[in-house]
Amino acid sequence: MKIDFVSAGAAAGPSDAVAVLAFEGKELSKSADHLDGELSGAIKKAIDQGRFAGAIGQTLDLIAPHGLDAARVIVVGAGKRQDFDGRAAELAAAHAFQAAKSSGAPALVFLVAGLSADEAARAALGVRLASYRFDKYRTTEKPDKKPSVKKVRLAVDDEKAAAKAFKPLSGLADAVAFARDLVSEPANVLFPEEFARRVKKLGDLGIEVEILGEKEMKKLGMGALIGVGQGSVRESQLAILQWKGAKDPAAAPVAFVGKGVCFDSGGISLKPAEGMEEMIWDMGGAAAAAGALYALAARKARVNAIGILGLVENMPDGGAQRPGDVVKTMSGQTVEVINTDAEGRLVLADAIWYCQDRFKPRFIVDLATLTGAIVVALGKDLAGLFSNDDALAENLLAASKKADEPLWRMPLPPQYEKNIDSHVADMKNVGPRYGGSITAALFIQRFVNKLPWAHLDIASTAWKPNSTVPTIPSGATGFGVRLLDRLVADFYEK
Ligand code: BES
Ligand code: MN
Ligand code: ZN
Repeated sequence: MKIDFVSAGAAAGPSDAVAVLAFEGKELSKSADHLDGELSGAIKKAIDQGRFAGAIGQTLDLIAPHGLDAARVIVVGAGKRQDFDGRAAELAAAHAFQAAKSSGAPALVFLVAGLSADEAARAALGVRLASYRFDKYRTTEKPDKKPSVKKVRLAVDDEKAAAKAFKPLSGLADAVAFARDLVSEPANVLFPEEFARRVKKLGDLGIEVEILGEKEMKKLGMGALIGVGQGSVRESQLAILQWKGAKDPAAAPVAFVGKGVCFDSGGISLKPAEGMEEMIWDMGGAAAAAGALYALAARKARVNAIGILGLVENMPDGGAQRPGDVVKTMSGQTVEVINTDAEGRLVLADAIWYCQDRFKPRFIVDLATLTGAIVVALGKDLAGLFSNDDALAENLLAASKKADEPLWRMPLPPQYEKNIDSHVADMKNVGPRYGGSITAALFIQRFVNKLPWAHLDIASTAWKPNSTVPTIPSGATGFGVRLLDRLVADFYEK
């Protein structure tokens, strides 16, 4: 997708779609008003005749408008004028893109004079996020399913200022696309070593990447992570990413730890066949952590940040871990593996311990497609937030609002600790069915050694099969990348 900022007077071509903003209460934006004049009042007339009320998400089409050299004009709802901000610009632009795309127009000219440079940049971000596609495996796509819009021009008051404001957001869009690509890839392509190869390429952005194999992890005592991967022919990996952007290279880093189960068959506690194919995105937490590092490095964030990705494949072969096995974690604590399908927490236990042991971070946020129970508890629009630290939790909630990646805080009730008591080991890896996301979080908390920690259960949000969010095409969402980038920008960078 090619996006350019052009001057407000730029002309559209005969096959272009031209989009303009209109607010609630029949209030046209500066560009819309100007265009309405050129079209002898056609926009106002169309608004008067129809249901279009200017809400975000509404669009109105004027086909082959007389007096303009363009195929169509799309009037895009921008909400209440007094509430208009970067977020509204982003969403309206994403809707404009979606409308132009379904019209079949090869190019879109979005007239946004009157918007600040930051708002125009957010509009461009909205277009970038909306235009994401994962179609590398479609070889015989019908022409009407092929993407139409190949080029978007945003006509603004000050092209230079808008382009400058867009630069860091362009990196953010790249980071989200990087995470979405990882999540979308099938498991025969994206296994732990291939995942590791792809994050190694982040070296180009100045991120230091180290990869540990099973031999090194065994030496470190990571019995829980190793146990999960031992039924797979693919070797488990631990990817360690470091971005050193703070003035003081020795300043304590922020840390993101991701569950990277490249495929979760359930292992010997095999999952039912129906829906098992969804478990290619059980590495969404690792993708988000890697994407977050990408975003920070792309805009040269003044922070030291660590990403730890626990990369495994959970498979049932003759060497696989059995229910009833007892494993020893890097922390020294032992775990009775009751259910081999509760594997994410085993991976995180060792990845989190490694992270705090080696890097002594200011805090850890882990991200994991951890439990089906979080989908039951919160539905598909909210990810679960568990934290031992109110300040970190508040910061995450604030960043979540701004980044439009919704979180809902969940409890860590001490009275449920007994649910993971084991007769043979220090704990077992599952509790009773009810409150499953909470037990999972309590399990992980046992591997957090006196530092602020938050756990994001993103099983509900890593993938949207039928998205109605304009900036998220159906499929991989990249959930977490924007949230963590915002978290750092707003609270940990200065
Ligand atoms: N990867 C799954 C969780 C999951 C389920 C993610 C559905 C997305 C959609 C996880 O490893 C898992 O299997 N969890 C089990 C835990 C249970 C065995 C205690 C679950 O949620 O059923
Ligand atoms: Mn599982
Ligand atoms: Zn899993």
